[in-house]
Amino acid sequence: MNLDRRTFTLMAGLGLAEAALARDIVPGQPQPGAISRPTMQTFPRGFRWGVATAAYQIEGAPDADGKGKSIWDVYAHTPGNMANGDTGDVAIDHYHRYREDIQIIRELGANAYRFSISWPRIFPGGTGRLNEAGMDFYSRLVDTQLEAGIEPFVTLYHWDLPQALQDRGGWQSRDTAKAFADYAAAVVRRLGDRVKHFFTLNELQNFVDMGHQGTSVMVQGKEQRIELAPGLKLSTRDLNQVAHHAVLAHGLAVQAMRASGPRNLQVGPADVLFAAVPVSDTPANVRAAEQATKRYNDRFLDVMLTGRYDDRYLASAGPDAPRFTDEDMRAIGSPLDFVGVNIYVPKYYVEAADNEAGYTEIPTSLSHPRMGSRWHSFCPEVMYWGPRLVNSIWKPEAIYITENGCAADDTITANGRVLDTDRLMYLRTVMSYLHRAIAEGAPVKGNFAWSAFDNLEWTGGYGVRFGLVHVDFATQKRTLKLSAEWYRRAAEMNAVV
Ligand code: FCB
Repeated sequence: MNLDRRTFTLMAGLGLAEAALARDIVPGQPQPGAISRPTMQTFPRGFRWGVATAAYQIEGAPDADGKGKSIWDVYAHTPGNMANGDTGDVAIDHYHRYREDIQIIRELGANAYRFSISWPRIFPGGTGRLNEAGMDFYSRLVDTQLEAGIEPFVTLYHWDLPQALQDRGGWQSRDTAKAFADYAAAVVRRLGDRVKHFFTLNELQNFVDMGHQGTSVMVQGKEQRIELAPGLKLSTRDLNQVAHHAVLAHGLAVQAMRASGPRNLQVGPADVLFAAVPVSDTPANVRAAEQATKRYNDRFLDVMLTGRYDDRYLASAGPDAPRFTDEDMRAIGSPLDFVGVNIYVPKYYVEAADNEAGYTEIPTSLSHPRMGSRWHSFCPEVMYWGPRLVNSIWKPEAIYITENGCAADDTITANGRVLDTDRLMYLRTVMSYLHRAIAEGAPVKGNFAWSAFDNLEWTGGYGVRFGLVHVDFATQKRTLKLSAEWYRRAAEMNAVV
């Protein structure tokens, strides 16, 4: 859908009025200190201004209350895997400070919070007996959020597989997919009365590829290698089978959750989107970007959203293609209520080409700017193109941006502030692009900024800070950054401010 300037302005204006009504503000009557302009980029009524975290990155308490070990507990304690030898043993001690942290999330102005459940807290051995004490922690966490007026969004798998399952083959085993479905159903039985939205697995493509073979990306002309737990180096054939078990886990979990949960349960993945950004908005370049994006996500989003492997993928994989049954494919393609996508970077800029693929990839240039983390090329327009392409390729019911954000070299000033202008610039820019996608018809219902708090950035350790809230890891003191003040204001106005 293409909008002319006048219609766009009108829509933005209507959005502003709606948002104002939603908050009992009289439209057109400026509130004390409020900015209200008719062309303001206002989000639809009910838009979720969320923040996100993941269990291993924040909780600490690795063996409290009967928790079993996860692959990250083991991987982080293996010398050489983590920057500075950091581990998640303490992290931001969220397991003990969750009440305070939920109040801080409230101060951030967030109306939704995406957190993950640690599978080995619920099933220390991966399967079998449910650990009531672990479940009780998440039950209290949910109640605390609801009391604070924050809607809980639960991720069932954010990479911390029970080590007991890894010992039995991990994602190389089909049984792990079945175990995940049982775990998902158990969680929904306990929390489904209070939590409406569940994400199955986080970033399938990344935990599969980076955890089981390792991945490289080129940034400013340098190769950046990324590995995650369990740190395996599988052949492509075995890797494709792992990928299949991951999407199968998603599909079996969707079925199991629907069978065990309330009728109005909302379920979808929180995958990473590998998007192609077209060099310009012409029909040929946009078509090229659609073809490339479908291709880049063929083992994950595409198969979950269509229920079949793309012929081109199967043909190009040849003897390395995964083994699967028709029943697997029916489970994998189970109807979803929404698709969640994490969006940080595109895979490539592309342009239309007269070749078999239909596109040519353009790597980012040597001087292309980047954000704090070594893999993060600054391409904010992916927050416009990402949702637009997801919508045109797969036409989902609804989309959530389940993560976006950036790392920065944050420091505390003499008077105790964290003035993260780069993150402020980043957030304001990506939210503006997201607004454009929504104004043009992408059904995006909410955005979850990564992350609420500084935390353990996987192998990057504690030195790579992604939070809106600064954490002093020595004292556990939390300080809202400048970007947090921006996010609060934006959430309050439901607009780019
Ligand atoms: C994503 C992960 C998340 C966080 C951000 C920076 O890939 O899902 O846990 O580490 O990157």
